[in-house]
Amino acid sequence: MKNLKKIICAVLAITLAVLTFAGCGGSKEKALTATEGKLVMATNASFPPYEFKDGNDFAGIDVEIAGKIAEQLGLELEIKDVEFGSIIGGVETGKFDMGMAGMTVTDERKKSVNFSDSYATGVQTVIVKEDSAIKSLDDLKGDGSMKFGVQQDTTGDIYASDTAENGGYGEENIIRYKTGNEAVLALVSGKVDAVIIDNEPAKSYVASNKGLTILDGAWVEEQYAIAISKDNEELLTKVNEALNALIDDGTVKSIIDKYISAK
Ligand code: ARG
Repeated sequence: MKNLKKIICAVLAITLAVLTFAGCGGSKEKALTATEGKLVMATNASFPPYEFKDGNDFAGIDVEIAGKIAEQLGLELEIKDVEFGSIIGGVETGKFDMGMAGMTVTDERKKSVNFSDSYATGVQTVIVKEDSAIKSLDDLKGDGSMKFGVQQDTTGDIYASDTAENGGYGEENIIRYKTGNEAVLALVSGKVDAVIIDNEPAKSYVASNKGLTILDGAWVEEQYAIAISKDNEELLTKVNEALNALIDDGTVKSIIDKYISAK
């Protein structure tokens, strides 16, 4: 009899404990990010001046803006360097809290993720060798006479690989690389005739590789923004608040000016 009482008491105590904990868990606010206290940003750090490796550290416009956003939200920024094409999927599934990679807002991407307000603009430009027969955008042809190098899954890839009637050069004339840097190295070594990439990285690559030049003229302006899961509206709101505060107080401009010398 004594034992039965003990057992009943124990069961009641455990039940109470479980209920209490469950109660705590239930009433506690849902964490803002996947890992409490952390803001995990996915990027592809081969895209200067937006993101690049400086020794073992990450540097660039996106890296610094993200650092300030994390600071405002009281979170610790953690950066994951992944393939550009896996950023959206990883954000969508909650593997990363946000994607920030000089990423252009497109209707297609908006089907998978939400985008913050825009913090910068870019345009697709074309890099060729200085001694190339390609002298202007009009010389670019999707007739099999030239190969175009792009970073896989970027807007440059999407535009260039489109059909001629849509302004592209045809899938068969495109060679895709994992990073913009690899596409540029392929241009230097003559494997491709032109590289299509965003203007600021294009300038950086031309500055750091001899014998390259950017063709005059550019396509439509693109808006860069931060990708956030559609399941985390709260994070989107908070990131936008922080971002707009940083735009309003001039922080974003001073970060951009630090990396892009005004001409
Ligand atoms: N703006 C282009 C896009 O969104 C290229 C971005 C590439 N970014 C990078 N970090 N590699 O598709």
